[in-house]
Amino acid sequence: MITINENFLKLQDSYLFSNIAGRVAAFQENNPQKNIIKLGIGDVTRPLPPACIAALHKAVDEMAGDATFKGYGPEQGYEFLRQAIADNDFRARGIEVSADEIFISDGAKCDTGNIQELFTTDIKVAIPDPVYPVYLDTNVMAGRTGDYVDGRYQGIYYLESIKENNFIPDLPNKDVDLIYLCFPNNPTGSTISREGLKKWVDYAVESKALILFDAAYEAFIRDKTLPKSIYEIPGAREVAIEFRSFSKNAGFTGTRCAFTVVPKECRGFDSKGKIHYLHALWNRRHCTKFNGVSYPIQRAAAAVYSEEGKTQTKELTDYYLKNAAIIKKEITALGFSSGGGDNAPYIWIDGQGRDSWDFFDMLLKQAGVVCTPGSGFGKCGQGYIRLSAFNSLENVEEAMNRIKTTL
Ligand code: MLT
Repeated sequence: MITINENFLKLQDSYLFSNIAGRVAAFQENNPQKNIIKLGIGDVTRPLPPACIAALHKAVDEMAGDATFKGYGPEQGYEFLRQAIADNDFRARGIEVSADEIFISDGAKCDTGNIQELFTTDIKVAIPDPVYPVYLDTNVMAGRTGDYVDGRYQGIYYLESIKENNFIPDLPNKDVDLIYLCFPNNPTGSTISREGLKKWVDYAVESKALILFDAAYEAFIRDKTLPKSIYEIPGAREVAIEFRSFSKNAGFTGTRCAFTVVPKECRGFDSKGKIHYLHALWNRRHCTKFNGVSYPIQRAAAAVYSEEGKTQTKELTDYYLKNAAIIKKEITALGFSSGGGDNAPYIWIDGQGRDSWDFFDMLLKQAGVVCTPGSGFGKCGQGYIRLSAFNSLENVEEAMNRIKTTL
């Protein structure tokens, strides 16, 4: 008899963004004349930077020549990309990360979901609320939680990110072993200061914990006082793994390329308390289960670090940040309080007592605008909606006009 992993039965409905896509598709089918503007999932709308396209074309041509054709590449990624990342994203900012500490992958979603395989099922996991659902769902699948009771999985330590703490969770008041953090935050758009992040690193050092730091939105940081990488904090190399992506800075959501940084000193412990280095474990896992991102895509990603690529990706993120500023200004003028939108592409809007899904339905049906209901990100998201700045300027302006009329 083939028996199933019953942990899957604990999961709620479908994955949040599939659920929303289903509802939007059903509405569109019944209202084919309605023009819908999507400010829901954070999917980019602008094309790839020309520097990336040129590199992609060139690499595709290489695949057509006997002398330049490439078969399997290194599972961890090609040296040219790993080195470009180490030099530009880290060393140029005075952060010590070497090329062989970088693992190229096809997405931060996959990496943040897969990394928990390195740890036992009895660890205590701390997950923000609200949160990008992947961190939570993958721990449910792995059997690290009890049942879902009253909007929460038993056994998880929820790090509440609420208005009262500026959407930056407080340190846990009991020991936890694995901590998920994401800054600039998805979904709240909040950012963390160096001092704030240092408290988490110090906590992890003292309690022998590990931080999984999702920095997928670092390219939207404009405030120079804010940390872009957790490795700007002394001690973080021993206690943190960082996740980055080319999806939001360079428009690779459909192209797929990301990377995970596992410093050589980053440690875990066996049941006897002996230290083991996570770099070796992740390397083993990556080589066994992953065959690398395709050569042309890695060449396109490396072009992000060329002079043209840097200018063009900055233009892209500036474009979306301008949208974010418009959303923020309009929603504030309507009397709503909100977070994010300054150094992040998401605006987290307090619905003034409205249920998140009711607010979602109202905006979809009356304004033809798709948002993401805050409660889909967790119990603390109830009453909020998230608007994404990833769309054209024209669509964002039109969406805000419609929202104004509706509200
Ligand atoms: C989001 O909308 O939260 C993100 O686009 C989801 C993702 O990056 O997978």
